[in-house]
Amino acid sequence: MNTLTRQFFSRALPSATLLLGSAALAQQTINVGDLNSSYNRNIWYMSIAVIVMAILIFVGVSYALFYTVNKFREDKRSAEPEQFHGNNRLETVLIVVPVIIVTIITILAARTMAIVNPTPKDALHVNATGAKFWWAFEYPESKVQGGTGTVTNGNELVIPAGRQIAITATAKDVIHAFWAPNLGGQRDAIPGSKKTWQIDTDKPGVYQGNCTVLCGPSHANMRFKVVALPKAQYDTFIAAAQAYKAPAPVSTSEKNGYTIFMQGKASAGAAACLSCHRIQGTQAAGAVGPDMSFFGSRNTLGAGIYEGQARINHIKPWIKKCVDLKPGCLMPAYEKLSDQDLGDLQAYLLSLKLPENASYWGKVPVR
Ligand code: CUA
Repeated sequence: MNTLTRQFFSRALPSATLLLGSAALAQQTINVGDLNSSYNRNIWYMSIAVIVMAILIFVGVSYALFYTVNKFREDKRSAEPEQFHGNNRLETVLIVVPVIIVTIITILAARTMAIVNPTPKDALHVNATGAKFWWAFEYPESKVQGGTGTVTNGNELVIPAGRQIAITATAKDVIHAFWAPNLGGQRDAIPGSKKTWQIDTDKPGVYQGNCTVLCGPSHANMRFKVVALPKAQYDTFIAAAQAYKAPAPVSTSEKNGYTIFMQGKASAGAAACLSCHRIQGTQAAGAVGPDMSFFGSRNTLGAGIYEGQARINHIKPWIKKCVDLKPGCLMPAYEKLSDQDLGDLQAYLLSLKLPENASYWGKVPVR
């Protein structure tokens, strides 16, 4: 084995195995062929028709090629092959057949676009806004009760299964792109532009989403989850989210966390969190960073970098210096806050919870 080959076997193979292993650990499959989505189904049916035609063309052309090579191969006995020019019938066939094929594909494509592109009347509207490096999901039809604004969540998109979702994508800073492959097509999220299209799934579950346009150093750390709930559970969630008012801090730790969040801590050079983050039912109304209203009910941190327990373990390091965990993260570092203060902020943030019956994690399987 030469050095390169050895390096391949000693490095590339184990890391490939590791990748496969971690994919299995996450138990999540990204699948554009997920036929529980009507969007994917329509594209898939069209693809099958085109693939079948392509196979027929391949077989036909291969047959014609071998037939011609065999029939008209050089005859060693004659000095010069038979000379002829043109074949009107064959040339007509070679023009007409491709025109028919292209026409069929055009009709199929136009038909599929006419099905998947228009927004159905009963679709649920959600605005998805990409930012460096996270997603805001806003429900324009769900006003906050007794307050201003509409229900908003960060990096976790909750939808009802079995209903068309009209996503309107835009971006705050640079071009991002929204794609939840199991639920339908991908679209660019462009600053100053709004694009609406559909996603949907019949199958309740947690699905993976990604940003798919290179947008900066943490492009690959700009993931999101789509949690598709059965209709009744979604209705419970959205009603609770509309009625949500952040609970008042209870413990000493939560109270200190609350104070730092709302007022900052001058002695540690820490600015107040509320200028960038919103918490429904408090004076915090910032829209620069992700909405923190029911942070305690979420399962991910840093736009999907950490999940479950790893999420809890990384809250303090995240507040302390998020660029260490996510290159290009725009949140300033809070390095002078003591470990106690960071813990208190964590305690306060984790206390921001939806009622248990309205929380959306753990209710549906991870797909
Ligand atoms: Cu945002 Cu890539």
